[in-house]
Amino acid sequence: MFDKTQVLPIASDHGGFEMKEYIKKELQLLGYKLKDYGTFSEASVDYPDYIHPISSAVNNGEFAFGIILCGSGNGAQMTANKYPNVRAGLCWCVEQAKLTRQHNDANILSIPGRFVNFNEGLEIAKTFLTTEFEGGRHQKRVEKISQIEK
Ligand code: RB5
Repeated sequence: MFDKTQVLPIASDHGGFEMKEYIKKELQLLGYKLKDYGTFSEASVDYPDYIHPISSAVNNGEFAFGIILCGSGNGAQMTANKYPNVRAGLCWCVEQAKLTRQHNDANILSIPGRFVNFNEGLEIAKTFLTTEFEGGRHQKRVEKISQIEK
């Protein structure tokens, strides 16, 4: 579960821009403090340029959680998951957001801006931020994620 007293970073490309702006505004109304890593308009950009900085900051421990968006959510998630301490989950419904926290201890939420409506996007974000990791049998599975074969 995300500690509301901490800063929550958020970033998107143009495909997730509108949804980022909506989620940012609504989360701020709920008392969250956000740091916006861009993009800052609907002009076409390359998603890695915006997702690398936020992912690196989560990877380095500067932030506990982060929210990223692009049109499909895939490019953003793929970029974020290049970082060893990042576990980014792609979530297009509330149940996915719940599960990626409960089972995968995801620390970055990737939202597909073009595949969910504003209300769904916000509920996904709220669920992600307020759901605890279950630990237990999921702990060793999460630890095994980084154990890549040579
Ligand atoms: C941009 O058109 C789109 O490719 C991007 O937002 C994302 O969906 C990439 O994975």
